Amino acid sequence: MDKPAVYAPNPKLAKNAHISSMAQYKEMYAKSIDKPEEFWLPVYKQFHWETPYTPGKFLSYNFDTEKGPVEIKWLDGATTNVCYNLLDRTVRCGNGDRIAYYWEGNDPEDYSRITYKKLLQEVCRFANVLKDHGVQKGDRVAIYMPMVLEVVIAMLACSRIGAVHAITFAGFSSDSLAERILDSKSKLLVTADCVMRGEKLICLKDICDTAMDRAAEQGHVVECCIVVEHLARLNATLNAQDNGHANGTNGTNGNSNGTNGTNGSAAYKKVDMKEDRDFWWTEEMEDAPSSCYPVWVSAEDPLFMLYTSGSTGKPKGVLHTTGGYLMYAATTFKYVFDYKPNDVYWCTADVGWITGHTYVVYGPLANGATSVIFEGTPFYPGNDRYWSVIDKYKVSQFYTAPTAIRSLMKFGDEPVLKHSLASLKVLGSVGEPINPEAWLWYYKMIGKEECSIVDTFWQTETGGHVLTPLPGCTPMKPGAASFPFFGVQPVLLDEAGKVVEGPGEGYLVFNRPWPGMMRTLFGNHERFQQVYFSRFPGYYCTGDGARRDEDGYLWVTGRVDDMLNVSGHLMSTAEVESVLVEHASVSEAAVVSRPHPVKGECLYCFVTPNEGAVFDKKLTDELKKQVRERIGPFAMPEVIQNAPGLPKTRSGKIMRRVLRKVALNDRDVGDISTLADEGVVDQLFANRPPEA
Ligand code: PRX
Repeated sequence: MDKPAVYAPNPKLAKNAHISSMAQYKEMYAKSIDKPEEFWLPVYKQFHWETPYTPGKFLSYNFDTEKGPVEIKWLDGATTNVCYNLLDRTVRCGNGDRIAYYWEGNDPEDYSRITYKKLLQEVCRFANVLKDHGVQKGDRVAIYMPMVLEVVIAMLACSRIGAVHAITFAGFSSDSLAERILDSKSKLLVTADCVMRGEKLICLKDICDTAMDRAAEQGHVVECCIVVEHLARLNATLNAQDNGHANGTNGTNGNSNGTNGTNGSAAYKKVDMKEDRDFWWTEEMEDAPSSCYPVWVSAEDPLFMLYTSGSTGKPKGVLHTTGGYLMYAATTFKYVFDYKPNDVYWCTADVGWITGHTYVVYGPLANGATSVIFEGTPFYPGNDRYWSVIDKYKVSQFYTAPTAIRSLMKFGDEPVLKHSLASLKVLGSVGEPINPEAWLWYYKMIGKEECSIVDTFWQTETGGHVLTPLPGCTPMKPGAASFPFFGVQPVLLDEAGKVVEGPGEGYLVFNRPWPGMMRTLFGNHERFQQVYFSRFPGYYCTGDGARRDEDGYLWVTGRVDDMLNVSGHLMSTAEVESVLVEHASVSEAAVVSRPHPVKGECLYCFVTPNEGAVFDKKLTDELKKQVRERIGPFAMPEVIQNAPGLPKTRSGKIMRRVLRKVALNDRDVGDISTLADEGVVDQLFANRPPEA
């Protein structure tokens, strides 16, 4: 007989969970919607507010562009400091010796740990370094870093002095970094010399040099670049180990200062340092005082900005603010992972993405949690690396992406069975829909049918989880993001903007703000309103579709715009198209998404060569290289097809649904009578390359 499609939470887990029944969830949820102030007040009170919020100003907002500008304000009048709440508060409660992070390097022999107390000191020192370089409240600081402890230190140092960090994922190209530096007008850049990803060496500082040059050419000069001697430290550590001095066994020192860089590798020595602009992290930190008074900022002052792809191609600088984000990151982390003291939590996301911001840094630290930060890949030195790290640190909550699960499933059960995984309680999934096959493998093979799976739906813009099961109470349906988190009210709308009640499908929108949602797009409130609030006045539009089943569960069905999600990385077809048409031999390009067994979706590109240009392997190789260099390796096209003609309507609009059918080799193309030239369709099917 088939297994039932609903999986109850493990009763042992449910019994002690923060939220242990659906009745409790429903009661709390109703309060969060009906009486937001009453609901959030206990959370608010856990934190330090230098000035309390003005009575009557707990929440004010307008979502309706027809009534005026979109505005979202939580805790108006309050002042605080996020770094103070994350670190000083924990240290002052007597928990300074608690481990904040276990750091696990790319090389399994390279690991360390840092306590809350030590983290606070390092953050203060770096905050003083930033101040010495003229960084002030409101200034943007660009960060382009591997997953090392210094990235957390740099983020929190910004928050300590009211500066706004703007992280670019270190897999992005120098062009993408330059674009972000320019848009954010970042004053200072923090990076590392190099990083090893598996067996591959990536020289981050070289990428930064090119990006800073490019930004300068376009009129924005980064005044200062601080470089962590990361690879230099690794080489020194491993050399010392060869000489019999093991690292990582020496307790709590965190080893986050690096070595002084004089004994680095050849790669390290190649790093160019520009006089008066580039400075070594260690040298800057050496004499910096280990205390720094926090700058009290308003609840609605910016905490950070983070770019996400826009459907027009230009990335959007999503801006998050202070008070509401802190409350929301803390609350979602606590309930969605059911975090308890002594648990060890591990989120595999890179801090370059929102998941890394909220669930590697802000959420865990706001709860005084102990987390693992991992620098490497799931496949190095073996395909069991994740499972060995879980056993090494006795991880209780593990949070990763479906694409990682699918890529590990490919190696079968054997790499998993080498490890116990008995410490696990909650397994999280994020970034894209999880297919039932991957869900079941995660549940059975990794969770041994004892762990709850939380399929968390959210976005860079939402700041934290918005739809998610809760591990102690929600009966799980594989692939369903289930129910809204506290304070979130989802609505499904049809094409005409009519509310879909009960079971049905529609555009997923929200009709009110929750504390952690974005406030604007940096420097472009107009675009913020246009992108998120214009399609359905009065609602925040996610850009995703969703279905509600007979039990009220929500299932996210995917993007309803020209965005696609490759291995959990959201990108727009427009940004890839604009890179393709930059090539001298290409006159036009159209990109569509095609399902992919591991990546979820992949890029299928149609290009029309210029008159006289030859479409051959040389051209497709050049185009792939161009996309890789201009956007980043994760945007690499899967297929590039010759398209002497594209399927256009008489008004010149490309009919993408036809291209999606060609990509799938599905001849059932539907009505094509509005095409200017129907013959193009047969030609496209005939032109499908053999590798497609
Ligand atoms: O399409 C949805 C998908 O990822 C998009 C958000 O991407 P990003 O801003 O990069 O943030 C990713 C990490 C939060 C969404 O619009 N998405 C994210 N989580 C899920 C998901 N789709 C289905 N199920 C999910 N759990």
